[in-house]
Amino acid sequence: MSEEKVRIFDTTLRDGEQSPGVTVTPEQKVHIAQKLDELGVDAIEAGFPIVSAGEMYAVKTIANSGLKAEVCGLARAVDADIDAAIKCDLKYVHTFIATSDIHMQYKLKMTREQVLERAVHAVEYAKKHGLKVEFSAEDATRSDRAFLIKVFSAVAQAGADRVDIPDTVGYSTPQYITELVKEVKEATRLPISMHCHDDFGLAVANSIAGINAGAACAHVTINGLGERAGNASLEEFVMALQCLYNKKHNIKTQLLYETSKFVSNTMGIIVQPNKAIIGENAFGHESGIHTHGVINNPLTYEPISPELVGRKRWLQAGKHAGAHGIRAMLEEFGINPNEEQLHMIVEKQKNIADKGKAITTSELLTIAGEVMHNS
Ligand code: KIV
Ligand code: ZN
Repeated sequence: MSEEKVRIFDTTLRDGEQSPGVTVTPEQKVHIAQKLDELGVDAIEAGFPIVSAGEMYAVKTIANSGLKAEVCGLARAVDADIDAAIKCDLKYVHTFIATSDIHMQYKLKMTREQVLERAVHAVEYAKKHGLKVEFSAEDATRSDRAFLIKVFSAVAQAGADRVDIPDTVGYSTPQYITELVKEVKEATRLPISMHCHDDFGLAVANSIAGINAGAACAHVTINGLGERAGNASLEEFVMALQCLYNKKHNIKTQLLYETSKFVSNTMGIIVQPNKAIIGENAFGHESGIHTHGVINNPLTYEPISPELVGRKRWLQAGKHAGAHGIRAMLEEFGINPNEEQLHMIVEKQKNIADKGKAITTSELLTIAGEVMHNS
């Protein structure tokens, strides 16, 4: 992969599967991994091998499926977890330990010295077994900055290949991430990944800030799935990088919608209609002003062409709709009312919409049929 391309590390099958309410079978995980590979992600975090026998089976199958993407598995900074990754035939492990005081005190019940020692040991242990190692300092953005840098420097010395900065509870800002990435890069001289959660809706903005400050990679998920409010959405991150920052990547953007649908159906989590890029409404238009503009030149109200992400533009009838939009909708079905008929159709459907009813395309066709038949 050319160095200036932003590396896309997909964690739909690990952090995404940790979304409350999501469970998939090993077979479904393998199928999703194939779709991610077709999409062009650079790395797939296939799962967390130690958690169950089914998870181990899925990760091992994915590791041996001959995918183009690098396949990786999650492991706490614990020998048994790294051994489980090795048993899955993984060549690449993502190992982590928390570095924030709140996690060390209330979860790990370990001192800073113990955490530092455990982090270094985990990296050395994985390297001794010939693995590529990405090290994450969980809750990095709420960690004491000097201690965090000490841990990252120590794991770099111990042979880590990449370091990841998790914004575990989505608590950071683009400004803070910018400073932090520069400091971590200076201290480790390693490729840096961003792993941003969306608790304040800033996961994509924070990931992009990281890339602009020198990070090489972002951990993302399809549909923004992940713990609580989720992770940075792959679709939003990639399209913003490409369209707003002119950065390159290996994603086949035309497959984004299809992949999003597949993951949504398989994992059983519906995408909100107004979600950027992949939500049902992202390329839908109702208001007369907007449809008029879009019919004349789609760029008036669409920042990108829907085809770029595997979608189609669509228009909606309703109380905000105007004659241009309704005419365009009817023309799609070969229906060409005259001006007077068109006016009547628009008014009729507005009257229905005023009663709080959504107008489907088939209802619009029925209204048009009646009007044209009776006039
Ligand atoms: O959010 C997080 O901190 C994680 C770690 C396991 C990297 O998912
Ligand atoms: Zn996470």
